[in-house]
Amino acid sequence: IEHQKSNTLFTGKKVLVSAGPTQEKVDPIRYFTNKSSGKMGFAIAEAAANMGAEVTLVAGAVNLETSNKNINRINVTTAAEMFETMHQQFQSNDIVIKAAAVADYRPKQIYDEKMKKQPNDWQVEMERTKDILQSLGDVKQDQFLVGFAAETSNALQHGISKLHKKHLDAIVINDVSVDGAGFGGDTNIVTYVNKSQQPEEVSLTSKYEVANRLMAFIARDMKDEVK
Ligand code: CTP
Ligand code: CA
Repeated sequence: IEHQKSNTLFTGKKVLVSAGPTQEKVDPIRYFTNKSSGKMGFAIAEAAANMGAEVTLVAGAVNLETSNKNINRINVTTAAEMFETMHQQFQSNDIVIKAAAVADYRPKQIYDEKMKKQPNDWQVEMERTKDILQSLGDVKQDQFLVGFAAETSNALQHGISKLHKKHLDAIVINDVSVDGAGFGGDTNIVTYVNKSQQPEEVSLTSKYEVANRLMAFIARDMKDEVK
């Protein structure tokens, strides 16, 4: 396992990472979610911890383990829970990385009992969830705030507009339509964009190596930032 790229790049730094999908239930046995496995966010948490950071990992509904003693894991299920937890943790962290795939919509009504099937169609009305990353960008002070963008077309353009709109310091753009990139697998291909430089590509490699590369970009950009 290539998990031992230890160094002291982030010693003394506190890193908050969110990973995985949220689940938005409609009744006791059904929910809406998305294809995120959480692997990219968990790799980032591991990489940061191995670089000396004290990591808080806010995990959605994933099937992943964490054993690193520098990672404090908090499990959440819904976008609303992730919103609360991220805001509780936000002020005490130096670097915040939002790799989670948050549901944009949730059922407007949650039924207490299982919905029995009917002869006719079932229309579920959906309402917007809050954009957690946008809300963190809006209250950000000294944190270095990094978002992800999951796109299937015009990835660079969409990603860069999210960087500015959400007041981020950097964005990791993921074209999930490309083979070897995105949801579920053990590899990824991403483009890192900060506020001043040209886009930087991380070509096809393991999610853990992508995480190492991203943490190195972040370390460089925090050093370059004039505070
Ligand atoms: N995000 C969030 N809260 C939401 C939705 C998204 O914090 N309710 C965050 C994600 O964790 C990710 C970033 O925003 O870091 C971009 O998510 P993405 O789904 O690519 O973009 P959206 O802004 O939701 O726009 P759209 O899905 O319409 O492309
Ligand atoms: Ca979205």
